[in-house]
Amino acid sequence: MFKLKMEEAAEKKDSKIVLALDFPYSSLNSQENLFNKAHKIIEDVYPYICAVKINHHLVLPLGTFQGVKKLIEIIHEKDLPVMMDCKANDIGATNRVIAEYYYAAGFDAIIANPFVGWDEGLKPIFEVSKKMHRGVILLAYMSHRGAKEGYGQLIYDKEKDEKIAQYISFARKALNWGADGVVVGATVPEKIREINEILEDKIPIYSPGIGAQGGKAISAINAGANYLIVGRSITLDKNPQKIVKILNKKLKNESSLER
Ligand code: XMP
Repeated sequence: MFKLKMEEAAEKKDSKIVLALDFPYSSLNSQENLFNKAHKIIEDVYPYICAVKINHHLVLPLGTFQGVKKLIEIIHEKDLPVMMDCKANDIGATNRVIAEYYYAAGFDAIIANPFVGWDEGLKPIFEVSKKMHRGVILLAYMSHRGAKEGYGQLIYDKEKDEKIAQYISFARKALNWGADGVVVGATVPEKIREINEILEDKIPIYSPGIGAQGGKAISAINAGANYLIVGRSITLDKNPQKIVKILNKKLKNESSLER
């Protein structure tokens, strides 16, 4: 259901860009200022993006059921899905509560970390999501350099009696568990390609790490990413709408070249 929502929004807005609505910490930022800043960017770019991703940058200062819930309502009025980048990573009972609260606030999907496993790990999140018709997006390979230490490590796959990379195992788990999306950094297009081959278009790939982290939008899309998660390059720019429009145009020109 969430997968479909994303496809519809991407088609309607003719965009693959998921706005990461992040702002740097500032002790001078009042809650009202921060809310207004976030609201202004939504009003500015909503016709040109397909979804919004919220992170601790807003949940911590504004509160889930105060400012963030209001922002979610505003974003939903624009026909855009909203996901929470909480990277749920705890025991099952706690994961369930995390999912229940975020979904109660109106989030359409949450991001979770497959490192905790299924039993007494992520299973409760998938159960709650199914019941509430929401989505679970799993990390497969993160965008930062240190990702290689965990997501890139070699592990032993007992069933297949072979050594494989951790992220390959996560991509397989995403299929087995019925995830609604997988996150792979735009900084590692070769990993996007490998993971895309495993997912066979059954699960969309969300790719963060464009711009500020050095990833290239075109390389990520060409490698098989379905959506691009972009934060600071948009939110810190003087003209966020211009940046989003340029990015959309670049992607369109590239795909027309491929035809
Ligand atoms: P920037 O400013 O770097 O923001 O464009 C990216 C946003 O995405 C988050 N992020 C990730 N989230 N897996 C995730 O689930 C990742 O590999 C990853 N890399 C970046 C980041 O926290 C920010 O909100």
